[in-house]
Amino acid sequence: MIPLCVPEIRGNEWKYVKDCLDTNWVSSAGSYVDRFEKDFAQYLDVQRAVVTMNGTVALQLALLALGIGSGDEVIVSSMTFISPVNAIRYVGAEPVFADVREDTWVLDERQIEALISPRTKAILPIHIYGQPVNMSKVMEIAEKHHLYVIEDATESLGASWNGQKVGTIGDIGCFSFNGNKLMTTGAGGMLVTNNEQIGERAKYLSTQTKTIRENGSFFHEEVGYNFRMPNLLAAMGCAQLEKIDEYSLLKRNHARLYNELLHKIPGLILPANEEGFQNAYWLYSVLVTHDFPISRDQLIDHLRENGIQSRPFFQPVHEMPPYSGSRTSLDMSATVHTSTFGLNLPSSVGLTEDQIRYICNTIRNLDL
Ligand SMILES: Cc1ncc(COP(=O)(O)O)c(C=O)c1O
Repeated sequence: MIPLCVPEIRGNEWKYVKDCLDTNWVSSAGSYVDRFEKDFAQYLDVQRAVVTMNGTVALQLALLALGIGSGDEVIVSSMTFISPVNAIRYVGAEPVFADVREDTWVLDERQIEALISPRTKAILPIHIYGQPVNMSKVMEIAEKHHLYVIEDATESLGASWNGQKVGTIGDIGCFSFNGNKLMTTGAGGMLVTNNEQIGERAKYLSTQTKTIRENGSFFHEEVGYNFRMPNLLAAMGCAQLEKIDEYSLLKRNHARLYNELLHKIPGLILPANEEGFQNAYWLYSVLVTHDFPISRDQLIDHLRENGIQSRPFFQPVHEMPPYSGSRTSLDMSATVHTSTFGLNLPSSVGLTEDQIRYICNTIRNLDL
């Protein structure tokens, strides 16, 4: 089976993890935690990075650090993995769902303003599958209405908007190092910001608001959280980060070959490629529309029968029971359209050219 997206582990992972084991520094203190935060901040060219146990808690931490909570609303897209929406609920706030763009499949910036109410505190653009949201417009709207911007860049490390890396444009950006992401620590996440005060607050909240008194006892001024990542995983993160440019380039090369081989197949819509925006192609994706000879789900079966794993796009979160009563754009048709027709194709960093050719030939040759 050619898997959808599996980790690439061929750097210093063994060496750094062994170092933790050899030195007994396996838990949440240890040099790799600090090093991973510093290296990640340097890679993204941001002031501060705060490492967390996963991307979901990085998002929850972002909302907490900005004081978003009960009675507040956060504008978000619905064609997403459910994590960012759940994170909004965890802090007691309410998600308000904007439609996505039919061409880029991410938050439609033209739908945001109509959803703003006196309770709106933030916009949470999600850069899905590696595709950046139009951050120029999001920032313009946020400034005009005095809203925070939290970028969910968990799927889009390496993507950029107008030359600026996604995750570094809003007040806070969040990343995930889950096993299927561009780089992995098994499970892990990172919050980044250019605002030192927000960064400091995030670190404080994520470490149980612990301060140490003169005699060594702990003091906690307010309710905090244990969102820390252990040194063992941070060690893996340091090693993975050393390879990030190489892995990003490989993903882009894979996408170029996919684009070339899937070009001009009736009914198959390829990823948008707008000027100024750099897709990270975390999961190379297509829309399989009515003009294609078989349905999206039939194509999934056909690929599986030929040893290829693929996955349908996320189903709209506003249709899931916990969120079915939430406020949405009047028209959510682009969300439904992309969810109905979208398909992720194998996108591991280690995918070979022969495998991509085989996948594309399998899509072309349907034996109807
Ligand atoms: C869009 C999106 N946001 C947030 C997350 C949460 O990340 P994690 O799985 O590390 O909690 C994910 C998942 O992987 C995701 O796809």
